[in-house]
Order: sequence, then C-alpha cells, then structure tokens
Amino acid sequence: MKRSKIIDLLRSGETGREVTVMGWVRTRRGNKNVAFIALNDGSIIHNIQIVADLQFFEEELIKKVTTGSALKVTGMLVESPAQGQPVEIQAKEIEILGEANPEAYPLQKKGHSLEFLRSIAHLRPRTNTFGAVLRIRHALAFAIHKFFNEKGFVYLHTPIITASDAEGAGAMFRVTTLDISNPPRLPDGSVDFSQDFFGRETNLTVSGQLEAELGALALSLVYTFGPTFRAENSNTPRHLAEFWMIEPEMAFYDIHDDMDLAEEFLKYLISYALEHCPDDLKFLNDMYDKELIERLQDVINGAFIRLTYTEAIQILKDSGQKFEFPVEWGCDLQAEHERYLVEKHFKRPVILTDYPKEIKAFYMKQNEDGKTVRAMDVLFPRIGEIIGGSQREENFDTLYRRIKELNMNEDTLWWYLDTRRFGTVPHAGFGLGFERLVLFVTGMTNIRDVIPFPRTPQNAEF
Ligand code: 4AD
Ligand code: MG
Repeated sequence: MKRSKIIDLLRSGETGREVTVMGWVRTRRGNKNVAFIALNDGSIIHNIQIVADLQFFEEELIKKVTTGSALKVTGMLVESPAQGQPVEIQAKEIEILGEANPEAYPLQKKGHSLEFLRSIAHLRPRTNTFGAVLRIRHALAFAIHKFFNEKGFVYLHTPIITASDAEGAGAMFRVTTLDISNPPRLPDGSVDFSQDFFGRETNLTVSGQLEAELGALALSLVYTFGPTFRAENSNTPRHLAEFWMIEPEMAFYDIHDDMDLAEEFLKYLISYALEHCPDDLKFLNDMYDKELIERLQDVINGAFIRLTYTEAIQILKDSGQKFEFPVEWGCDLQAEHERYLVEKHFKRPVILTDYPKEIKAFYMKQNEDGKTVRAMDVLFPRIGEIIGGSQREENFDTLYRRIKELNMNEDTLWWYLDTRRFGTVPHAGFGLGFERLVLFVTGMTNIRDVIPFPRTPQNAEF
C-alpha cells in the first residue's frame, strides 16, 4: 500500500502532483457542493485538508466519512487558499478503509477531559494531545540512546525477573507459577519456593542497577533503559507501578562526576526535544501550559544548584513555610519540600547530596561522618525528584556491614559482593525516571498521561 506521509506533504510543498494519503478523519465539514475533510496519520500534529467536489462522489460514501473513520485518498496536491496550511488535496478517489459509527465512536467532539481520555486509553493516541506526547516520548527515548552512544556507553540489558531487592524497599511484584490457592508447603507451613519455576522466590525488578554495576566493573561505562516495577500503593500524579528507567553506571566516577553527567544528560535531552519536536511542544504550550517552552529553555540556560541535604533542611526550617509534613533532619523529603526548594527558594533545578544513610539504599557510599551517604537527587520544577543516584560503596567490609545491619538476605547478593572482592573500584550511577522526564518536557501534570497504557493501583486495563 504505497502512500505519502502527511508530514512529508506538508513540509515539501511540492504541488502539482498526484498523491495518495491514508489516515483517520478528524473532522468533516462543508456544504452541498463540497466537503472539507481534515485527515491525520499521526506522522505530525497537523492534519491535511482533503477537498472533495461532491458532484464526483456518491452521497452514501461521503456519509461514511465521519470522525474516526479511516480513509485512503488519492488526488492532486495543490497550494491551499486557506490560511495556516501550505497545501491541500483535491480528491479524485476516496476509499473508506474502516468506518467509525458516529453513534458509538467516543472521540466526537474536541476538548475531552484528560480524565475521560484515560478511560479510553486504547483510542486516546488519536487525539492531538496524545499524538504530541507520544511523539515527544519517542524523541526522548531516541535521544537517550544517542547521548550514551556518542559517549561510548554500552547498552546493557538487565533482567526483568530477579531474586534480589535492589532498593531494599520491599515493594515488589512476585513472579510465580505456583498454584496460589494451594501452594506446596514446607513442614513449618511456609510456602516451598524450591518447587516454583525458578526454584526460588522471584519478583519483577525495581531497578537494573545492581546488574548495571556488574557491567560497569568490566566495561567501564554502561547504561540500562527498561521497564521497572514498584508495588507501592502510591496513588499520586508522579508514581506508576510500571515505569521506564534509565540507569547509567560508571566505573572511576565519583559523586561529582556523577552529578556533572546527570546535569549534562538532562540538558541534552531537553535541548533535543526543543530542536526536534517544535510543533508538538508549541501545541502543548498553547493548549495546556503557556510557560512550558520558557521553562524548558530556562533549565538549559544555567547551572543546577548543588547543596547538601543538611543545608536544604536548614533552608526549609528557616522558610517559615507551613508544610503538611514538618521537616526535621533525618526525614525523607516530600514533594512539597522538594518543590519549595526548586520553585520558591532557588527558582532553578537543584541537586541535593549527602542524605542521611537511614533513608537511602544499602549500596550508597558512606561518608566519614558515619551518618550520611554520597547520594544525589536531582529535583526539578513541578516534578520534584527526577533523578536519584549515588556513588557506590566499593569497600567490601563497609558494604557487608551495612547489609548485615539492615538484615538483608546476603544469599541473594553474593554475586554483587563478589565485585567488591575482585578488582573493586570507585564507581557511581543514577536512575532517571523516564515518565517524569516526559512529564516535565510535555508540561502534562499527571504521569498517567505520558505513558501509553499506565499501570497504577487498581488499574491494569488495556
Ligand atoms: O530513586 P530511585 O528509587 O533510584 C533507584 O532505583 C536507583 N537504583 C537508581 C540508580 O542509582 N541507578 O528511582 C530513580 C528514579 C526516581 O528519581 C524517579 O524519577 C523514578 O526513578 N521513579 C519513579 N517514576 C515513576 N513512578 C515510580 N513509582 C517511581 N519510582 C521512582
Ligand atoms: Mg529516589
């Protein structure tokens, strides 16, 4: 089925030739002599206008050209007399590829709420908003690989099914083939996982980091980019149960190198979107968030603020601000605290370092004060934490002590500990939540609207 993509026709402007387009009808209007059909094929946010002189077409056919129906149109590409579009097609042949009964098709009028569109996630890619978001999401994914490839990083495919809990948070989805209504049991009554598929307890990964560290301690520079899963019951606009994470891991990097890379990476990705997605960003800027493009440019043009967690706590305490969760040294920062620092106090992205070890994962490098670890979180306007990372504890004894202190199951981590036994080196890495990045770049406000099919508590349809 040979066709021209609408993006190419709108951009080339080469008129006076016959073309064939295929796509979905956004609107049909007109009078008894002529029909104007706005056709979209998803290659670009703009529609191409089809002009059908009704003396050449059966009334029955034109009646089936309704919002949502799919067409194949052949005709002459001509300059358009109408404002705001360079070209249009004078239809010679129109074939209905697929009808969409107007009584039943849910995307009739414009301006459906985002909430309603979530309930028809199977059709929402056909709206301007989701077309724009999905194209931007694609561009960012591509730019991520481009960035790391240009720097000589190796894309490491880490497993989805694991037996370890990388973050030690326990928020995991179990993977099993046992009959859950009647599992095999040990004499003490507990479930006998040795009879499970993998001969042990397994779960969906919360992070590819531990395996990425193994890669970095051989290839120096690696990154992962894959789905990760968290069974936290967090029903917020910034949490998904299934999200995509990018985790670079670098041998011979300390925390400062780690922060430099994170800042360069984020700026590169935002610049890439500004350069490659101007039409989609302009649409989102006009429709949802008049400061979007300005905010993106702002992040690129200037250094991120860097300070310690301890300094940040002091600023929050001195702020006189009433927070829902009061601040004390040792507390985990909530989105309200992070956003105060970024949006009110510094008015710039912020990187916080040296968090209390109690609120961070076991693998982070311990500082000499005995209280803090070499963690770094990047905080963004409207998002809060967009990146979490750290320098890793490379010393075997210190790391082993921490694993024991936390009562972690060392049997599932022997291979991780081996890297500290054999040729250990300083190394660092971070994790970027892909949907939080897409949220920031598109200016959308709910993370459910930047992934095609969101997985959240009580929701796994589509
Ligand atoms: O801070 P987190 O939990 O860090 C890690 O998983 C480390 N292993 C990363 C590393 O050092 N390699 O998660 C990293 C990022 C967060 O900053 C956030 O952007 C995102 O992942 N994230 C989520 N995004 C959507 N929904 C969730 N439930 C998320 N949890 C974390
Ligand atoms: Mg974190």
